Amino acid sequence: MTSELGLNHALVTGATSGIGEATVRALVASGRTVLAVARRQDRLEALASETGCSWMAADVRETEKLADGIEAFAPDIVVNNAGVGHGSSGLEDLDAAMIQEAIDINVVAPIQITALALAGMRARARGHIVNIGSIAGLHTLVSAVYGGTKSAVHRFSQNLRVELRGSGIRVTELCPGRVSTEFYQAASGDRDRLDQMGQSGIRELLPDDIAAAILFAVNAPAHVNVATIEILPTEQAVGGVHATPVEAKS
Ligand SMILES: NC(=O)c1ccc[n+]([C@@H]2O[C@H](COP(=O)([O-])OP(=O)(O)OC[C@H]3O[C@@H](n4cnc5c(N)ncnc54)[C@H](OP(=O)(O)O)[C@@H]3O)[C@@H](O)[C@H]2O)c1
Repeated sequence: MTSELGLNHALVTGATSGIGEATVRALVASGRTVLAVARRQDRLEALASETGCSWMAADVRETEKLADGIEAFAPDIVVNNAGVGHGSSGLEDLDAAMIQEAIDINVVAPIQITALALAGMRARARGHIVNIGSIAGLHTLVSAVYGGTKSAVHRFSQNLRVELRGSGIRVTELCPGRVSTEFYQAASGDRDRLDQMGQSGIRELLPDDIAAAILFAVNAPAHVNVATIEILPTEQAVGGVHATPVEAKS
């Protein structure tokens, strides 16, 4: 099934693992033409031979290279998913280069890629930007750096929706809680603490759960903009404390 809205060409960043990889599979299964973007070429090739997607081996910070690819592919859907959890264990565990990398990959790249895609979307009067934020961008949680970058994604998404009102271009932000991916292995910071954080001990979301939510948003009818989706494992709650009740004193 292709989209009645003509949203048939989807670009997905961070497509070699986790949420991005699952999203490529789901978008291809929905009948769309998909361009998968990430750095690891061997994984992109494997995904392409499995799904039939196209791919481009690129770092999301390589704006010039991406500009050519985006112009040629003319995406109707952009899923800004590539991201890193650098600093999830704490600001002081990061050196200056890693702080910069977190901001460049999580904040600057999705803004640049969106800017590159918007000209074509405006001309075609249709399009859908899907930004992968995080509950860390909505709520006060551990990680000043990661939460700071995802808060920027949140504000960017909210304000871009205002800028694009009346254009026919939709903006969706998806804010997951814990998803079972390679996220903590790929993050920079204190290795022991990151490994500990990676073992939540709960039944986490699966990348397919997030891909299904993205498909819900992009398949919505033209008059519906699914603005923000916050999606948590049932065993995770923001702000909650898991404690046994205080026994009543007699
Ligand atoms: N897992 C969670 O609990 C969770 C929760 C909330 C939000 N998120 C967000 O979900 C998104 C996806 O994360 P994930 O959990 O699926 O993690 P993941 O399994 O580590 O996947 C991250 C993907 O991003 C790509 N990537 C990283 N840096 C890149 C760069 N500079 N250029 C191009 N691609 C790059 C990686 O590919 P290459 O290394 O091949 O380039 C990989 O495909 C991120 O934005 C993350 O912040 C995750």
